[in-house]
Amino acid sequence: MIETGDNGRLWLLSGRSSSYALHLTDRDELLHLHWGPRITAAAAEALAREPLPPHWPFESRLDGREEYPVEGGPRFVRPALSVRTGQERGTAWDFTGSEIAGDELRLGFTDPVNGLAIVLHHRMRDAFDIVERWTTASHQGAAGEVELLRADAATWTLPERDGWRLSQLHGRWAAESRLVRGDLTPGEKVLGSRRGHTGHQHLPWVALDAEGAATEESGEVYGCALAWSGSWRIVVQHLPDGRVQINGGAGYDDSGLVLLGPGEAYTSPVFAGLWSAQGFGGASREWHAWQLAHVVPRAAEPRPVLYNSWEATLFDISEEQQRTLAHRAADLGVELFVVDDGWFGARTHDAAGLGDWTPNPARFPDGLKPLADEVHGLGMRFGIWVEPEMVNPDSELYRAHPDWVQFQPGRERTEFRNQLVLNLARRDVRDHLWQRLDTLLSSAPVDYVKWDFNRCFTEAGWPGEPYPQRLWTEHVHAFYALLDRLRAAHPHVAFESCSGGGGRVDLGVLSRTDQVWASDNTDPLDRLAIQYGFSQLHPARVMAAWVTDSPNTQLNGRVSSLRFRFVSAMAGVLGVGGDLTRWSPAERAEARDWVALYKEIRPVVQLGAQYRLRAPEGGLSAVQYTRGDDSVVLVWLQAQHHGEPPPAVRLRGLDPAASYACRETGAVHSGAVLLHRGLVTGLRGDLDAQVFRLRKE
Ligand code: DGJ
Repeated sequence: MIETGDNGRLWLLSGRSSSYALHLTDRDELLHLHWGPRITAAAAEALAREPLPPHWPFESRLDGREEYPVEGGPRFVRPALSVRTGQERGTAWDFTGSEIAGDELRLGFTDPVNGLAIVLHHRMRDAFDIVERWTTASHQGAAGEVELLRADAATWTLPERDGWRLSQLHGRWAAESRLVRGDLTPGEKVLGSRRGHTGHQHLPWVALDAEGAATEESGEVYGCALAWSGSWRIVVQHLPDGRVQINGGAGYDDSGLVLLGPGEAYTSPVFAGLWSAQGFGGASREWHAWQLAHVVPRAAEPRPVLYNSWEATLFDISEEQQRTLAHRAADLGVELFVVDDGWFGARTHDAAGLGDWTPNPARFPDGLKPLADEVHGLGMRFGIWVEPEMVNPDSELYRAHPDWVQFQPGRERTEFRNQLVLNLARRDVRDHLWQRLDTLLSSAPVDYVKWDFNRCFTEAGWPGEPYPQRLWTEHVHAFYALLDRLRAAHPHVAFESCSGGGGRVDLGVLSRTDQVWASDNTDPLDRLAIQYGFSQLHPARVMAAWVTDSPNTQLNGRVSSLRFRFVSAMAGVLGVGGDLTRWSPAERAEARDWVALYKEIRPVVQLGAQYRLRAPEGGLSAVQYTRGDDSVVLVWLQAQHHGEPPPAVRLRGLDPAASYACRETGAVHSGAVLLHRGLVTGLRGDLDAQVFRLRKE
């Protein structure tokens, strides 16, 4: 709901339980007024009437208060917008008008000197406490060029408090999305990626709680998340007077996003913001519900259990071997069989074939269709792996088009994993990829595509192009456009975003994919911390997780039970990735039972409200999912010490007056007891785990 006030110079957006207010002064300065619990338009007007506090000669009266601070004029904060026209930098804005279109507010401004116009977009949906913000900039002059060095999606302003704690998700390959929290000190905290993709190093998300006072289920939490899959930057500024602002947008350095000629425009990604009074858990549940309702395509459809042999076979695959695995997988109850890397071109190792998207004739003599048909005959869907944005120098594609990659003449073409990045900003490259992928999806009954991206940009050059740095953003737009076009042409195909694990997980890619691969680390213990961090922002419905072999083959040789591996992977979209030809009949029988159990709890896990009951670092960790009358509790014990039984796990979100029957124990528990005393799990020893199903009676 959007209300206006102060003769059309004040706007109040309200969602389920929060409000967000803006005010335009008589000098056309757009000031932030309020972000927090719901307030009335009258209360917002009263805030707007309060004069700005006095300021010292070395400070700006606007800093820390503007909705979208720009470079230029009396401002010293980090600007959201930085513009260069000829030799000059900076802009100044006249208000041109507001428009309300449903739940979206558009505020327009122009710079009378350079012909640039911007529109600030704010959308708040009635049922949610999330504000979606983005900015468009257009050149409305008759001549000349305007360079957007930086055009952030938004700047968020927090209320005054005695101090703030920052939560972030950091990592690296095989160790993504690990949560850290720390006091915000004066200055700027910069998170981002200058790699061309979202990156394993930081998820584009921050959360802030005042004075470090929020807990998992109580207190005020602000969160911001960027919907962008290229290089990005979020800057959390702790200003000299203690005020805090958060800028976020595409691109890392302010080195140029786009050069706008007359009539040309740039649209930033969305930077979404959330206020919650329900602690970190409440904030996460709000993010999850909003993504399932408004971001992830077809989110109401639960994702199937998949099998993928990558860890078991690596590149050593054949049609016959995949058939054998498909039969074993179907026998376990798997619903989607995926052929990973190695099915195409000369791709028998990672140094050849990338870019040649036709089946390897020695491995699949009649193409993929016979295997796909057999997989379908077994009652499963069929999926394949691709990495369309990349090429091995040893490939037919590169030999034919060595100029199709990003490169700088005279400089080395740096290879990572023996591959180079195609320049998707080029139309011929985009056309080629569309034609190849469309043909591929038409040539065999493919239901699922795992779309990988296994290296960062290095020499991001584009010889012959007058403004080569535009490839950084255009690559991402081209990737999005390809996905959108493929989804439209092949609507039954589901897509997974993968980037050597979780190197491309963000709200942008999630608006056009069905799930993401959170990490190449499938060790079930490490994975608990990765999943804990992932759940801060994203729901279980999009988080693929596999049960692989023990000892763990990829990383650490850790030995763990099938039980522990399954319960760990059941916290997301369950997959199986072990070498099923080496699993004993007893292991396969046990796995069949776990898959059947997962299918039963799947709607609750994937679509329910998630409560993080205990964090992984404590030895005993637990997550609860609740949907309607059903709750599922997953519990993991890392190691029991001194023979002491692990503590009871206190549940959340239940009705204290109701009774809950536990399928695993047959016991009927009082809701109040489960909330207050907790559930006694009976876990013992090392790496033990259990699933509890509870139904309200
Ligand atoms: C990286 C992915 O994360 C893996 O799951 C696998 O698909 C390999 N690439 C294949 O090259």
